Amino acid sequence: MAETIREEYVRKNPRSAELYPKFKELFPSGGAGHDGYVASPFPISITRGQGPRKWDVDGNEYIDYGMGSASLLLGHAHPEVVDALVQAAPNGSHYGAPVESMLEWGERVVNLIPCAEKVRFVASGAESTMLSIRVARAYTGKEKVIRWESHYHGWHDYAMPGNLPPFDKPASIGIPQGSLDSMVVLPPDLDALERVLATDDNIAAVITEGSGASYGTVPLAPGFLEGVRRLTRQYDVLMILDEVITGFRWSPGGLQAKIGLDPDLCTLAKVLTGGLPGGAVAGKKEFMQVMEQTGDRDHDRFARVLHGGTFNANPYCAATGNAALRIAATGEMQNTADRMAERLRVGLREVIDRYEVAACVYGESSTFHIYFGGRSIEGLDAIALKSTSPELQTNFRQALQVRGVDLMSRTSGVLSGVHTEEDIAQSLEAFDGAMKALMDEGLVSHD
Ligand SMILES: Cc1ncc(COP(=O)(O)O)c(C=O)c1O
Repeated sequence: MAETIREEYVRKNPRSAELYPKFKELFPSGGAGHDGYVASPFPISITRGQGPRKWDVDGNEYIDYGMGSASLLLGHAHPEVVDALVQAAPNGSHYGAPVESMLEWGERVVNLIPCAEKVRFVASGAESTMLSIRVARAYTGKEKVIRWESHYHGWHDYAMPGNLPPFDKPASIGIPQGSLDSMVVLPPDLDALERVLATDDNIAAVITEGSGASYGTVPLAPGFLEGVRRLTRQYDVLMILDEVITGFRWSPGGLQAKIGLDPDLCTLAKVLTGGLPGGAVAGKKEFMQVMEQTGDRDHDRFARVLHGGTFNANPYCAATGNAALRIAATGEMQNTADRMAERLRVGLREVIDRYEVAACVYGESSTFHIYFGGRSIEGLDAIALKSTSPELQTNFRQALQVRGVDLMSRTSGVLSGVHTEEDIAQSLEAFDGAMKALMDEGLVSHD
């Protein structure tokens, strides 16, 4: 009898299998730092990445469509980013003082991102959304923030209501009721937004994942972002655009530059630091001024937003951030990544047609998503678009991994500006083989 996907996965990864019990002993569920690193029967342990590829502890090679959770627009270990880090390393990682490279980094953000008049660096994307919410609440003196069902803004308390279905239950336990009550979760619908804005006078801001939920797994309707901008202006609340994924990726100036949107605040991370930890809130002076220290004791103690963070804007991240943004500013990486993603999407549709599977492929910019529930995503909401069974998700990813391709999450991936036509051709062969394996095991069906 032919080997199953799971049997082949186990056979090809003996060292990863051997390491996993040790991970489980040390870390909850075996996840050292992220829930997403947990897999059944075990995740693959990686040793090295270079360009669009990475290698595991068993010597297997992968064309990577995870790309550091979309942080590696320039690919793994880009020589200029590595060189910047190597140059910075001997000088130390923290002086508790301003460093010129931070200035250059901030200027790059201001020059590239349209709404960025002032910038504050943080240590992650989650911290950027958390700080943006505090800034909006402080500026408006209002408490509640509207967010959309299924949009991801990190793992902090304010990001947990509405993140996972059922949307009236937070995505995690351990969240105080006060935090839950301070967020308003809505389906991505402008009428629903207007109804809340017209009736609740305690709304500080609306936060939106620019791509639509989960880097575009749930695309936004055309005109939706512009509608949010119009209504937030009309009702005097702030628009926070979460550009943690789209920033520097959708275009050098992010999604806002690409579509001419004018948010009040935006959040950045991932590409911002060239693959090291970091993030930023950027926005109009008028709003960012709530962070100013004036020297007046009363003002500074009672009338401003406090913010700290040991590792924010540290010299190593400033060095890699500068190297990455210098390259990202030209737009060449984004053009290549978008072009290669389009080729991949077209090729994937051919695979689906060949096997006549009830699935479809979509995605914007340098992303791709595969929906296994039918030939179109027209009219489908977040629950439907994220409904692929865990069994199919696991088998699909492992069927690809044993053929030398890795995904970012679920049935989606993201490209870099260093993926090549050869990578795409090789990947499409892997997708073809994976689809056949899924059909052989009865995990996907004909349309
Ligand atoms: C849109 C969006 N916002 C915020 C975050 C949180 O960023 P981080 O994982 O750096 O905390 C992510 C992470 O994937 C994201 O995709």
